Amino acid sequence: MRTHYCTELDETNVGEEVTLTGWANSYRDHGGIIFIDLRDKTGLIQLTCDPEDSKSAHEIADKVRDEYVLIAKGKVRHRGEGLVNPRLKTGAIEIVVTELIIENKAKPMPFTLGDSNVGEDVRLKYRYLELREPAMYETFRLRSKAAIAARNVLDANGFLEVETPILTKSTPEGARDYLVPSRVHNGEFYALPQSPQLFKQLLMVGGFDRYFQIAKCFRDEDLRADRQPEFTQIDVEMSFCDQEDVIKVAEDLLEGIFSACDIEVKAPFNRIKYRDAMEWYGSDKPDLRYDLKMVDVIDIFERCDNEIFSKIAAQPHKNRIKALRVPGADLVFSKREMKSFEDYVRKFGASGLGYFQMKEDGLKGPLIKFFSEDDIQAIIDRTELEVGDVVFFGAGEKKLVWDYMGRFRNFIAEHEKMNLVDPNKYEFVWVVDFPMFEVEDGRVKALHHPFTQPLDTDKDDIEEIESIAYDIVLNGTELGGGSIRIHKEEVQEEIFKLLGIEEEEAEEKFGFLLDALKFGAPPHGGFAMGFDRMMMLISKKSSIRDVIAFPKTQKASCILTQAPSEVDNTQLRDLHIRLREQKQQ
Ligand code: AMO
Repeated sequence: MRTHYCTELDETNVGEEVTLTGWANSYRDHGGIIFIDLRDKTGLIQLTCDPEDSKSAHEIADKVRDEYVLIAKGKVRHRGEGLVNPRLKTGAIEIVVTELIIENKAKPMPFTLGDSNVGEDVRLKYRYLELREPAMYETFRLRSKAAIAARNVLDANGFLEVETPILTKSTPEGARDYLVPSRVHNGEFYALPQSPQLFKQLLMVGGFDRYFQIAKCFRDEDLRADRQPEFTQIDVEMSFCDQEDVIKVAEDLLEGIFSACDIEVKAPFNRIKYRDAMEWYGSDKPDLRYDLKMVDVIDIFERCDNEIFSKIAAQPHKNRIKALRVPGADLVFSKREMKSFEDYVRKFGASGLGYFQMKEDGLKGPLIKFFSEDDIQAIIDRTELEVGDVVFFGAGEKKLVWDYMGRFRNFIAEHEKMNLVDPNKYEFVWVVDFPMFEVEDGRVKALHHPFTQPLDTDKDDIEEIESIAYDIVLNGTELGGGSIRIHKEEVQEEIFKLLGIEEEEAEEKFGFLLDALKFGAPPHGGFAMGFDRMMMLISKKSSIRDVIAFPKTQKASCILTQAPSEVDNTQLRDLHIRLREQKQQ
């Protein structure tokens, strides 16, 4: 129907006859001339309906209301002297309308497009209206470009796109499954995949050598700003490869995707070992846009004259005393603010947060009296303190200290008085050599998943066993992860055993995988990137919901369709299901 999209026109089109289509973004009547801002996915242009140019178009324009669907024919003209709108891409021109069709009417809008004060429940209920905003369209245009770039890079590298089942069996990625009851098999359920992990490994046993999929995954877990119950992964697997081969493919992929979104990133990316990431940044997903790095001072504190610290320091295997130097902090924070940081870390289980200030005349702070001259100098040297700096201390059980000091590191970097985060920087880092297991409440769990290749099983402490697993982290967000897999049945069985998965249970849950490993499984490995998270960072959005066309709320419901919803009794009967409790009305 149209000759152009609204913002395709500019002064070079002056004098041309055009037909435009779209929605009435706004209208105003100025002394008999009606101005309508016509909007399509690209943006706005002004339609001018003057009875002198067309009486009938003007009469129709008089009936136009917000969001009416219009087809307008007319001539492109320069706006008059002083009437140029510099805020609009098409602000120098207007369309003198000669023919106007109201293609459809619209009810009054439940909210004004672009109004950031509207609650999310209203916006999500009418998501299709919110999607009309050109800024929204831009986000999804980028997402589409990125997906196409991903396909192109992987296709060029010999990867085959294969779809794997959605109605399947549980895949252990650490979350609860979404279950689908079977009508045909009384009392039996499918699980929606938490990832295509097992199928992609089977494709390697099938000799496909290089697989990828832009795959929907489903995880019933607590939702946060960067988590949705259904989300998309760019999922990759390859055979006869080592970690270097996989990382190279992942880096090519990231370069290709970011470049399609007009962001230049340069591989190879930095790498750090998991253990270093924890010791230096207190996190396995450090934000390296800023350079704050913790150092160990447990040996210095061991010699101090304070029993609390020396007791903690006496168990260096179990505990940590970490120092974080914050350059220039003494020049911007008051004593009261410095004290208030303690309240921040207490929320994460810290018992306190010590600090020393580097003044012109030496190191100051309430704890200084417990240290000898030499040890004060040792602290200054170790943390490389300069006048104006503050060094903060966390002491206690190592996981606790890593956690709250890591959070404090981010908190202080983002603090408006420090402002260390450059929002235009994309700082990738590979975190490698993850431990194979973690022990939580006495239970051994796989840190990645139980199909990961362990490195050196010959360790007394199970938590010391490393694995060939790697995560790619961008600006403090875990974008993706992967591993080299176990391809020998006996190793897989051994790992299940260490995880406390009995033979019978392993057979019942993953028998098909163990079977497949018996038939000449090649060495293989791969990774998956969280595509929504990636697009959230590329589009600089604060929530993953902004880059998903029809997202779920924090409570995992779809306000638009009102899913999940009750179903009638016949449907339940067909599925052999009887509800134990009726929902409270
Ligand atoms: P993992 O569980 O680390 O690995 O998931 C890979 C990436 O998927 C993203 N992601 C999510 N995004 C949005 N909402 C969620 N609920 C969510 N959960 C995960 C993250 C994460 O880094 N099978 C393995 C990959 C492999 O080993 O090849 C896997 O799924 O960005």
